[in-house]
Amino acid sequence: MIKQAAFYIKQALDLKNPQTAVILGSGLSGFAQTLSNTVTVAYKDIPNFPQTTVAGHKGELIKGFLGQKEILCLNGRFHLYEGHEPKVIADVIHILKELGIKRLIVTNAAGSLKKELTPGSLMLIADHINFSAKNPLIGANDERFGPRFPAMNKAYTEALRQKCLKIASKQNIPLSEGVYLMVLGPNFETAAEVRAFALLGADAVGMSTVPEVIAAVHSSMEVLGISVITNYTGDLAKNTLSHEETLAIANQASAKLIRLVTEFIKEED
Ligand code: HPA
Repeated sequence: MIKQAAFYIKQALDLKNPQTAVILGSGLSGFAQTLSNTVTVAYKDIPNFPQTTVAGHKGELIKGFLGQKEILCLNGRFHLYEGHEPKVIADVIHILKELGIKRLIVTNAAGSLKKELTPGSLMLIADHINFSAKNPLIGANDERFGPRFPAMNKAYTEALRQKCLKIASKQNIPLSEGVYLMVLGPNFETAAEVRAFALLGADAVGMSTVPEVIAAVHSSMEVLGISVITNYTGDLAKNTLSHEETLAIANQASAKLIRLVTEFIKEED
């Protein structure tokens, strides 16, 4: 099943040797437009590939180049709140692994739990809290990819984080580090939940990314994660939240994120 999907993608995109894949979060699909010589395949045409259902999430896999570097982009991701089984997300990561991907860059839109983390800013994910009570690795372990009980205490690769901070500073892009907490969604959090999450040590909250990172770490991939902070949550939020608002802010802030990810990939070995 994994091999069949990977075989199809390899042919359809004429892949040579991509090392890095980028998962584009809400409002961040502009990244794909910075790539040259792109080729696209729709998720719906890939055998055994799941389908996305969320506005702002397209559902296509894009191959393109940054300089000489061949990059894969997932334009549209799979959220558990859409009803996907968690294992579906592991399958997608395993397909990337089968294609030779060694480094996964995950981006997302997230809500801020802290006053100093302002909407429109970027947060480098230092660590996460899996508050979804779901796990993509549930079920029989596929030993081809990794062990039954994978360590998760160094999920976000230290060297990549340091490099990203350096590039951000060189590019004059303010970038703080923080902890991302995943809720299942689809509702935004209550004010009491937000207070609880802040006490737990989280800085930002969102509805994605964690299952992808768990599966990627299990598969021995290096991981870099960046959140675009689209809104304050709970008591910090002035208005009732909406998906449209988070999309609009993500779109505004996406130029910075795109510049950061582009420079990061260009400087990779
Ligand atoms: N909560 C959860 N997910 C989100 C938020 C939020 O406030 N903003 C963007 N994604």
